[in-house]
Amino acid sequence: MTIQRIGILTSGGDAPGMNAAIRAIVVAAHHYKIEVFGFVAGFNGLIEDNFMPLTIKSVENIIHKGGTILKSARCPAMQTQLGLEQAASTLLKNKVEALIVIGGDGSFAGLLALNQHWYGQVIGIPGTIDNDIDGTDFTIGFSTAINTAIEAIDKIRDTAEAFERIFIVELMGRHSGHITFNVGIACAAEQVISFENFPSQGNAIDNEASKLETLAKEIKQAQADRHASYIIVIAENLWQGGASALAQQLQAVANIDCTACILGHIQRGGSPVAKDRILATKMGVAAIQALIDDKTNIMIAECNNAISHVPLAVAIQHQQGVSESLVQAQANILALTAQRQC
Ligand code: F6P
Repeated sequence: MTIQRIGILTSGGDAPGMNAAIRAIVVAAHHYKIEVFGFVAGFNGLIEDNFMPLTIKSVENIIHKGGTILKSARCPAMQTQLGLEQAASTLLKNKVEALIVIGGDGSFAGLLALNQHWYGQVIGIPGTIDNDIDGTDFTIGFSTAINTAIEAIDKIRDTAEAFERIFIVELMGRHSGHITFNVGIACAAEQVISFENFPSQGNAIDNEASKLETLAKEIKQAQADRHASYIIVIAENLWQGGASALAQQLQAVANIDCTACILGHIQRGGSPVAKDRILATKMGVAAIQALIDDKTNIMIAECNNAISHVPLAVAIQHQQGVSESLVQAQANILALTAQRQC
């Protein structure tokens, strides 16, 4: 049976490149004469029966735009029976035969739950700046987010050099360090503090106290060596109280003056870089192809530059870890730098 109508929505934290994915889906669907309904504000659009028909015209001139023309949101109602039933009833009422969700693992969990109440085809496209989804090398938005953060930290470096100052820059990523490690390496940060190189066992207060002590020693050494600037990048949600608390503790414990800077949502905005536009386009087209091939319950992924399909249930099972070689590279660079200073 050929599909006549599909729905799409963007959900969770928006990511640069979501618009490029919407465009690719609409253009590919148009090719197969499939009608596309865009549900507004994530799963809320399903619950409230709020959608816009998406035509070739409506996706013109959006590939370069950050955010998402469909709006995004988190939707706690999708964790309730009532919410799921309302969402399913909207899809049935509007004769939608398949749903594509562009988002992160929370959004995919919502999609799987919905599929218990509605038997259309379901496809996920990984769109999150965090790059933490298992089964795909990259998620849409990650490349732009790291470029944005790198650009910001390069600017911080200028003022840090001029003032011989220490900065602690807090980066997004929820509970993963893809952004922190990649940005730390690309900015030659003197320190990268993230989940992957910070002890997760034992008492958090003791772990922080011990890190504080070594950090203070290393900073003092760098100051003695007349290092002009010093940048520490730290993953959000790692240190209790975040970058500001760490700055205060370094002051209190070792009289070290640091400036805390939380990059925050700037990392989610902006025009997508080429890599995200291209990835989003490939994934959007692949999603329509998968529907035509009668696939369901899968996430479109890209591994080693080839598009693949990962069962949604597998994609949400684990968070994709930061590659060990990246963590090692950063640790080795730090060690070599320390040796050079001795
Ligand atoms: O998942 C994307 C993300 O930007 C995370 O990096 C961050 O922890 C979270 O969303 C922030 O969410 P909100 O915008 O709802 O505060």
